[in-house]
Amino acid sequence: MLIKKPADIKPSEITPESVYRNRREFMKDSATMAVGAAAFGGAAATALAQNGDQLKASAPEALQRTPPAAWWKAKFDSVKPAPDSEPFFTGESLTPYRDVTRYNNFYEFGMDKSDPSSRSGEFKADPWSVEISGEVAKPGNYNLEDILRPMQLEERIYRLRCVEAWSMVIPWIGFPLADLIKQFEPTSKAKYAEFETLVDPATMPGVTSRFAIVDWPYREGLRIDEATHPLAFMAVGLYGSYLPAQNGAPMRLVVPWKYGFKSIKSIVRINFRETQPNTTWNDLQANEYGFYANVNPGVHHPRWRQDMERRLPQTLFSRQYIETRLFNGYADQVASLYQGMDLSANF
Ligand code: MTE
Repeated sequence: MLIKKPADIKPSEITPESVYRNRREFMKDSATMAVGAAAFGGAAATALAQNGDQLKASAPEALQRTPPAAWWKAKFDSVKPAPDSEPFFTGESLTPYRDVTRYNNFYEFGMDKSDPSSRSGEFKADPWSVEISGEVAKPGNYNLEDILRPMQLEERIYRLRCVEAWSMVIPWIGFPLADLIKQFEPTSKAKYAEFETLVDPATMPGVTSRFAIVDWPYREGLRIDEATHPLAFMAVGLYGSYLPAQNGAPMRLVVPWKYGFKSIKSIVRINFRETQPNTTWNDLQANEYGFYANVNPGVHHPRWRQDMERRLPQTLFSRQYIETRLFNGYADQVASLYQGMDLSANF
């Protein structure tokens, strides 16, 4: 993110516009299409059927790399569909699967947008465990299976706005972060949640690169009231299937009212603490990347404006610029979290 201004993005990184239909049109025929996507239930069937052929044609390796375990597949059989109303649904066109899985930021695999999809072939998301530590009654190392067992998976269609001024609309599958936090019974001293990504030099070529700028592991943090807000989401899938490696398999955060860098991928540790944690981008360049990182068209990045965004997909000849909204359009839900705070000082 330090590296490229939006204007510097090369045409070669821009995927041709893919065919897509908006969700409402799609819902009309989802019943018939769901038959072809019988392995996945509810909304998952919806998204998969909508993009199934495109998905299989464009990213077969992403599907092959997904965890095969029966328990995992069973979870995806009963995904609760996204409601047809805000804030868990946007009404905007979905960004095609190809763009969602080919235009990524995941520096552990490299710094180009295509690196996470092209250089993550060795990455293994199964088995997976997460260390829970700090101010909780139930610390420990938990298998992902145990974490997911009590969760009802649901679909949520959220906008994702990167600090680099591009954006997407993505149908995620997962569960509220609040449900995960509750499981471990945070103490009254748990004022912040801190998250860490896996560091595996054997499967993540970016972490040993001499061009790496991050002090691994990648870290992020939220205030506990942000972390337990109903919009904060743990994603384990997208477009009706498991998360591909490049999108943060097997489990990543999605905080839709904040710049994308808060949505940390491939989480292996969650630590509860009394004080604000250090976070990767804030440590790298505090005057450019704040701890809060709330999407805000009134507070510009020192090197580019933040009041407009480039909505993907796009072609060389058709770029779609739209106005950026305060809290990425989720102000009604989250503005109260920041009441009385100066958002330009706490950016
Ligand atoms: N998490 C880790 N571990 N490493 C990263 O480099 N990049 C962040 C975020 N999570 C990043 C990460 C940034 S800058 C963005 S915009 C989003 O992931 C992009 O998510 P996507 O590739 O699924 O669109």
